[in-house]
Amino acid sequence: MSDAAVQKTTPPLLQARVIDTNRALEEKGLLRKRVKVMLDSEHANCFEVDDLPYINFSSNDYLGLSRSTRVIDALHEGAKAYGVGSVSSPLVVGYNQSHRQLERTLCQATGHEAALLFCSGFSANNALMKSLFNDTDTVLADKLVHASVIDGLQDSGAVLKRFIHNDLVSANTQFEHHSPCALVTESVFSMDGDIAPLAELSALCQQHNAWLIVDDAHGFGVVGEKGLGATALAGDINIDAQIVTFGKALGGQGAAILGSHQLIDYLVANARHYIYSTALSPANAAAVNAAVEILIEQPSLNQQLQRNIDCFIEACQTNNIALTGSITAIQPIIIGESTRTLAIAKRLKEHGFWVGAIRPPTVAQGSARLRITLTAEHCPEDIHAFVAVLADILQDD
Ligand SMILES: Cc1ncc(COP(=O)(O)O)c(C=O)c1O
Repeated sequence: MSDAAVQKTTPPLLQARVIDTNRALEEKGLLRKRVKVMLDSEHANCFEVDDLPYINFSSNDYLGLSRSTRVIDALHEGAKAYGVGSVSSPLVVGYNQSHRQLERTLCQATGHEAALLFCSGFSANNALMKSLFNDTDTVLADKLVHASVIDGLQDSGAVLKRFIHNDLVSANTQFEHHSPCALVTESVFSMDGDIAPLAELSALCQQHNAWLIVDDAHGFGVVGEKGLGATALAGDINIDAQIVTFGKALGGQGAAILGSHQLIDYLVANARHYIYSTALSPANAAAVNAAVEILIEQPSLNQQLQRNIDCFIEACQTNNIALTGSITAIQPIIIGESTRTLAIAKRLKEHGFWVGAIRPPTVAQGSARLRITLTAEHCPEDIHAFVAVLADILQDD
């Protein structure tokens, strides 16, 4: 066969890779697919998929702020005043009064000196890890930290050591053996809903002269006094860098790294995700600013969320459903096998309840789970109806 004929019949290398990988994932039942949901403009917790209605128990909009009139008005007013887009990198002319105001409000809420805004939490975590560390560093991270932290650390060239999830003895042992310069944890863990022992981790870091970095994606808006997250959770603790994401309890999009003036100056000069990317939309910054103000001014929303969490936990106890002890908006029910987890989630859907079935590699092998999330928008009737159906399904299973 001539070279030209070979070229025609052999698919290009990348095409073959794409096709083979998709096929292999499909065969293992691991090819991830999107579901198109039709949102209900009247009810934040309801949507339709393929014309069937569902009550949503898998949203991260813990306070329902994505539909808040005040936040929506702020987005509208922000777009009218400053434009929809920020028109350039923050280091050219993309950093304006709307961004500055949000940074100030976040500093007021968390007690940090300075803040830097990113278009997503993934980007903020990645930027911080990649720009702060280099191949002379060892960094210690909780076994369950988010993929964006791991990817950023890998890009940085630092040596990554892990400690057993939320285990102070394990963290201390790693400090003694490897002298890491920083410890990274989440405040509330995204797939487990449990809370890191931040006061103890902070003390450990101080004892070993290391920085404490806290990803507060699922904590800000949910835990701590008034729901103000990691710094409000454990009294007077020192957090050297805190990541607040806007796409969870704040109902918006984007994220901030908070820390000292020196840290933020360093990141402005070195974080490639910040320097070489169009700044967060100023309208979005205005909307998130309104959401943080609501959090500061109106503890009632956080209190409503706490009531719904308590209602869910009590209903599960009454129905003998085993929970993990989480007291946050994330309530996992560990099933174990992926196929069984999928089957239970499917049966819940048949009854009109939408719950995420979380499987490896997102969680460890053998720990597939239903990831149930509560929001301030749920009503007790929905929670009770959901738990009753869940109890029946688990009993039949
Ligand atoms: C713990 C944690 N950190 C960071 C992120 C990334 O945030 P974002 O969704 O804004 O990219 C997520 C989102 O899944 C998360 O769960």
